[in-house]
Amino acid sequence: MNISEIQTIEHDVLVVGAGGAGIRAAIECAQQGLNTGMLSKSLLGKAHTVMAEGGMAAALGNVDKRDNWKIHFRDTMRGGKFLSQWRMAELHAQQAPDRVRELEEWGAVFDRTPEGLISQRNFGGHRYPRLAHVGDRTGLEMIRTLQDFCVHQGIHCHMECTALDLLLNDGEVCGLVAYWRETGRFVIFRAKAVVFATGGGGKAWKITSNSWEYSGDGFGMAYRAGAELIDMEFTQFHPTGMVWPPSVRGVLVTEGVRGDGGVLLNNKGERFMFKYIPERFASETADSEEEANRWLDGDKDARRPPELLTRDVVAKAIKKEVEEGRGSPHGGAFLDIASRRPAEFIKKKLPSMYHQFKELAEVDITKEPMEVGPTLHYFMGGIRVDHDTQASTVPGLFACGECAGGMHGANRLGGNSLSDLLVFGKLAGAGAANYIKGKSLKAVDEKQATAIIRSATDILNREEGPNPFLVHEDLQAVMQTNVGIVRTGEELQKGITELQRLKDDAAKVKAHATSQYNPGWNEAIDLSNLIVTAEAVARSALLREESRGGHTRVDFEGEREEGLTYNVVVKRNAKGDMDARREKRPEPPKALADIAYANLEDLEAQNG
Ligand code: FUM
Repeated sequence: MNISEIQTIEHDVLVVGAGGAGIRAAIECAQQGLNTGMLSKSLLGKAHTVMAEGGMAAALGNVDKRDNWKIHFRDTMRGGKFLSQWRMAELHAQQAPDRVRELEEWGAVFDRTPEGLISQRNFGGHRYPRLAHVGDRTGLEMIRTLQDFCVHQGIHCHMECTALDLLLNDGEVCGLVAYWRETGRFVIFRAKAVVFATGGGGKAWKITSNSWEYSGDGFGMAYRAGAELIDMEFTQFHPTGMVWPPSVRGVLVTEGVRGDGGVLLNNKGERFMFKYIPERFASETADSEEEANRWLDGDKDARRPPELLTRDVVAKAIKKEVEEGRGSPHGGAFLDIASRRPAEFIKKKLPSMYHQFKELAEVDITKEPMEVGPTLHYFMGGIRVDHDTQASTVPGLFACGECAGGMHGANRLGGNSLSDLLVFGKLAGAGAANYIKGKSLKAVDEKQATAIIRSATDILNREEGPNPFLVHEDLQAVMQTNVGIVRTGEELQKGITELQRLKDDAAKVKAHATSQYNPGWNEAIDLSNLIVTAEAVARSALLREESRGGHTRVDFEGEREEGLTYNVVVKRNAKGDMDARREKRPEPPKALADIAYANLEDLEAQNG
């Protein structure tokens, strides 16, 4: 193969992924005058960002003046079960308000308070109404705004182009090999730095809110290039996905429904969340219908309803109700807002949910409850990055948004993803821009580029092999059964063994026909990343012998003190196998620990 015949495109910085984090990173680079490329596996604007429907968390204090960045930081640390990377959580809470205001300047039309300020709604784990929102289409508005803004920044957007693997020169990233999905032709991108904003890998599970693009591409490519992955055991099951009809199982039902007053009921009509209030949140959570109703009526001194406990708690409570025979007809719980809010309110604040249920399930949510259950939604773990620059452990590779680990610890608070991707998208762009100062493009190693291309074309050229769609289905079943919402050492071990078999299958899959418009080939290529993702989660989960946030071990119940002393880190070893190890966490910075463990009243008193 003569790689000089392959199309080559050059950029200073190449951003992979065109969701909120990717676009924000690209804008930062372009605004610094850099030749910036942005690669999208799909179309610009078709990103999981839109799945964060209910809002973007930022302590603006527009609806409740007691809010400030320290309380947001404290909520984030508590929600993440104190495992979040301290500095990242600090930067996030401090910078989120500026990112919201910037988005507004760029054209986002947020809902308003009666006084004309950006309106903020309640969400799980957030002490005050904190989510700046646009009905239940906040992520969509964010993407629309970023998209409109970025097209005027001179960014080169390469759409329907899938990245295959990074190219390295002397241990530093110097570009990557990709292919155009339409033609199947290969393309080499040369760049002085690459920023991954590739999202998560929800497609490794059967029930997920993620769409087809989310096959853990960033995890897989970074891992093969020698980067470390961190906290991969923490996978978030959003408590409310659709459960019926089967064709839409897993589709997200925004937490905004609960934020705006919706309650969870079992098949006996009991509001069961009162039974599941953890000790840590007891002082902040209403323990009676009467108090929860006062909160709904706007009593600021009432404690928050238990439906707004963190996602890990609510998802596990629903699972338990179902297991004990109190589930809804299709194996979930009932989410009722119809009996709590007038139809007009529901249609105004939750228009997408109204249409989603009407069209997909023939349910009118202004009149009857929805059926909901947990759905794999988000990865707290990801590529290990430096907190301030988002640099990975491989020189020249940066990561931001869902594919980067650390910020959310053991559990992410709803709404913190949209603010995360803007805060860290900007920092990653700045980090990459700073890194390339004085650098020039490095030569591409022909042997390496050829090997990447060969491994993709082998899928088409071999005589026979397993069907990639069936291998993917098998993988989803293995993950759903063995690495699900609750785990045991035995199941995890079984999952790892099964993954070895699937790894062998994935290496031999056969796609028929040519590389043009070939879904089977696309699927086969995604498999290698899905399997890295799945294995990293399973191996990390086996090493964490406790239950914390999004990781629950039936054989190691409850949080263990020791659990706070380490992170699980995954890396490829010299033989090409996956190593997972516990790594000691540094002591928390005292000033931040004081805030995280502070009394709420003391932090509120620091306002104005
Ligand atoms: O429920 C939601 O609207 C999702 C938000 C998020 O994941 O941040």
